[in-house]
Parts: sequence; structure tokens; C-alpha cells
Amino acid sequence: MHDSIGVAVIGAGMAGKAHAAAWRNAPSVFGSTLPPVRLVSVGDAYEPLAVEAARRFGYSRHDVDWRAIAAADDIDVVSVVVANQLHREIVEGLLAAGKHVLCEKPLSDSLEDARAMAAAAADAAERGLVARIGFTYRRAPGLAAIRQLVEDGTLGRVLHVSARYWTDYGSSPDVPFSWRFGGAPGTGALADVGSHLTYVAEFLAGGLRSVNGGMFTTAITKRPVAAGFALRGQAAPLTGESADVENDDYATFNARFGDGTVVGSLEVSRVATSHPNGLVIEVFCEDGAARWDQERPSEIGLALQSDGPRLGGYRQVVLGPEHPYVAGGMAMDAPGVGWGQNQMFEYQARAFLDEVAGNTVDPLPANATFDDGVHNMEVLDAVARSAAAGGASVDVPTTKQEQHA
Ligand SMILES: NC(=O)c1ccc[n+]([C@@H]2O[C@H](COP(=O)([O-])OP(=O)(O)OC[C@H]3O[C@@H](n4cnc5c(N)ncnc54)[C@H](O)[C@@H]3O)[C@@H](O)[C@H]2O)c1
Repeated sequence: MHDSIGVAVIGAGMAGKAHAAAWRNAPSVFGSTLPPVRLVSVGDAYEPLAVEAARRFGYSRHDVDWRAIAAADDIDVVSVVVANQLHREIVEGLLAAGKHVLCEKPLSDSLEDARAMAAAAADAAERGLVARIGFTYRRAPGLAAIRQLVEDGTLGRVLHVSARYWTDYGSSPDVPFSWRFGGAPGTGALADVGSHLTYVAEFLAGGLRSVNGGMFTTAITKRPVAAGFALRGQAAPLTGESADVENDDYATFNARFGDGTVVGSLEVSRVATSHPNGLVIEVFCEDGAARWDQERPSEIGLALQSDGPRLGGYRQVVLGPEHPYVAGGMAMDAPGVGWGQNQMFEYQARAFLDEVAGNTVDPLPANATFDDGVHNMEVLDAVARSAAAGGASVDVPTTKQEQHA
């Protein structure tokens, strides 16, 4: 058991700030069972952002080079929240330096790198280190509530799912080129938001077995190049040049889950104008159906066959302390108070700290492993191969867990 846990965040962009805030708040949600958490450093290659985030979230210092965080004796736990193509080098460096690592999804931008990272994590586990990936939406109270209704049999056998993650951060051709727009087919919208959508679909429908009907399109093929650092959503000075968008703005595919009889259709976009963060999933079952929408995160839709044709149909269930993650999960945990994605980062951070601290008093469900992160990338790779083969059916490899079952 640690006397205290020192944390750092590498990357102070959009999600990095959510991690910085999450480590700060994690000890204040659920039981007071953690050792003191020390907020040590926020690192970002762009120093003004590191300085600002460290000050804003109460960290003692900032760094510009991740190696300083790896070398620091007062840091035990590190979030890696930078571009996907940078994950491998930084994660491997941190694990080699003896840090526990929470890496953002997707594990990397290539399957080869992801597999190497899982091997490094297995090696580090032998030295007592925890390496996990943030499948943040597994912590959405609404999704966890629907999973309970599937698992306890209320909804009956799952028949099919329909899921989409529509975002619009790339809708305007004026949005400058950034790391998200470069890379092989499948590293665009599919990797960015499809990485979430696939584990969310699996959360409700079971392990993904095969995909077909893969199709990508790049709707906006050129983007202006920013001069220097460009924060997402803020106007940046431009060089006057443009760069080719290399990967998918939109992707769609069908999938088979579980024993192969459960099917689904999934669609992702970063050019879905007017939908900033539109993750919606609907699960259809023998005894009912359920629906969750990230834009209305503190309610679910529920329909039960047992209501009969006269009173049946979708009802709105406003979530509260009777549902997962709500009781103790926020300062005011009364029914109907409302919450959002930031809370999920806190729960993910809390689960990570529970695991590092060896907390046995009501720990949250553990975060996903790097092997889960490899499986997630194998799913994305299968979609890319399906798209390259005109929509052919492509099997997803069985997971390590299944191989050992
Ligand atoms: N779990 C979620 O809900 C969620 C949401 C958004 C993003 N993400 C993931 O988080 C990661 C980061 O995404 P983002 O949207 O925050 O990106 P971002 O572009 O907003 O921020 C990345 C930051 O990394 C910094 N950086 C670049 N190179 C660096 C280096 N070598 N060392 C330290 N800092 C460096 C940049 O200056 C920038 O501030 C990605 O893997 C993304 O997929 C997850």
C-alpha cells in the first residue's frame, strides 16, 4: 500500500485537461479509501498549455518533455493523453521507468505498435505495474444501467444493436490539418470515435466476431495548415498552404457479436454537421429495448414487452442513485441532477487509483487492459480490411481471454 500516490498527465489538450481534473476529483468520489493523491506535474510539448493546465488544476509543476516525468521520483501514476501515434514511445518509456500508466484510446495508430505495448505491459505487470486503457464510456451511468438490464435478464436475449457516433469537428473545410487527419485508412473517424463505439457495442452485445460492409469516405480532402500550435476549436494563424487529408471522415460497417447470431450496424463521422458529440446506441432484445444518447447522458429510454400493446413503447427513465455510478459518484448525488462526460473520466481515474492502491473496499470495476486495447484495434483493423476489400466479411481474432477460457 502506498503512503501517497503522485500523479502526472502527459498532454494538456482537450482530453488531457479532463484527465488533470479527474485525478484531482477522483479521491472525492465514492468512499474515502484512497491514500492521499499528490498532483505533481502536467506535461505538454507546448509550454503555455502545460503552465496553464498545471495552474488551473492545482498541479505543483509543469514539464515540456515527457522524459522528465518518467525520471521523476515523486511520480507514481501517469496519464498518456497525446496523439495516438505518440502513445507507444511514451508508454514504453514510462513503464520502463517504473510508472503505472493509464493510456488513452485507441492504444496506438498501428496494430503492430499496440501489440508491442501489450507485451511491454505484460512485462511491467511482473514488476507490479498497472497499465490500463481508458475506455471512458464504460463509465457512463446510462450505459452501465442498460448493461445491468441485459445481464439481469430484464431485456431478454439481445437480438441486434444499432450504434452511431456522429461528431462534427471536421465539418468545416476551414478546420486546420492536425494529427487526427493524417495516417492510413481507418486512423480517422474510425480510430478516433469508432474506437469508443465498438467497445460500447461490445459492452451491450458481447464480443465482436466479424465485420462486413466496411466503407470509408473522405468528404473534405484538403485542409489549411496552421502556423504553429493550433488549439482545437480556436482560430489559428495559417501558413497559406494546404495539406491532403489522408484518412476517413466517415466510416460504416456491420458486425456479428457473441455467438454470431447477434448482429448490428455501426456508423461514425467527424463531418456530421451539428452533432458535436453524438454517441447513440440502441439495443433490441426479445423482452424489450433500450437506448442511450450521450447528448442526454442522465437518462435512458426503456421499452418493455411486458407493458403490452396498450401502454407499451419507449419511456424516459431519469437516472439517479438506484443506477450504477450515481450514489457517491458526484458531490450532489440526488436523482435528476444531471452529469456528463467529465464524470466518466473521474470514475476511470478512481478505478485506476483503486487498483494501484490495492483498495479492496468497494473498488470500481477495473479499467480495460492493454490486451483489450489490442482487441479494440483488431476490430478497427478488420473494418479497414473489409473496406479495402469492397465490404467483404472479415473475422476478428479471438481475444487472449477467450483463447485461455
Ligand atoms: N476518452 C475520451 O473520451 C477521449 C476524448 C478525446 C480524446 N481522447 C484521446 O486522447 C488523446 C489526445 O487527444 P486530444 O483530443 O486531447 O488531443 P489534442 O490535440 O487536443 O492534445 C494533444 C496535446 O498533446 C501535446 N503534445 C504533442 N506532442 C507531445 C509530446 N511529445 N509530449 C507531450 N505533449 C505533447 C500537444 O501540444 C497537445 O496539447 C488521443 O489519444 C485521443 O484519442 C480520448
